[in-house]
Amino acid sequence: MATRTMHAHAAPRALATPTDLSASEVRSVCEAVNPLIADAFALYVKTKNFHWHVSGPHFRDYHLLFDEQAEALLESIDSLAERLRKIGGSTIRSIRHIGRLQTVGDDEDELVPPLEMIRRLLGDNRRMAERQRAAIEVCDKNRDTPTGNLLQEVLDHTERRVWFLHETSQIGDGTGPTRR
Ligand SMILES: [Fe+2]
Repeated sequence: MATRTMHAHAAPRALATPTDLSASEVRSVCEAVNPLIADAFALYVKTKNFHWHVSGPHFRDYHLLFDEQAEALLESIDSLAERLRKIGGSTIRSIRHIGRLQTVGDDEDELVPPLEMIRRLLGDNRRMAERQRAAIEVCDKNRDTPTGNLLQEVLDHTERRVWFLHETSQIGDGTGPTRR
């Protein structure tokens, strides 16, 4: 078995898509973006976990909201990973790789009250927005405008999730928002 260490940014020759970006620029972008992809995977699983395990009188609202948010996360994963391949970088290869890079914590609690689900997802998405904004700066500094532009779109979706989760958390009695 090969013992050579495979860095996240150093693609083998056959995967080295031609680019006018320097190796160090590509490396900086990959080091900023791959952890974001790992976090999107982790948050996708957490959001689906809540989609499957939510309970209570507002089941349908939350079930559907979580599904919509999981879908947006999944879409961002493929776009970001392919951006890195377009500049000759490498990206996520396994669940274990995700585990090494993710900063979003896993959630294995057996029963999470609905509003606590909202609160946890709100926190994760807020931190995700912060990291995505920081990565946009890295892309700008390394002349990778398209990845920066894509991240702006991805950040817009993260902020949409933050908005919906924030509003959903505004009112409630522990089970969910009160409807008139
Ligand atoms: Fe479903």
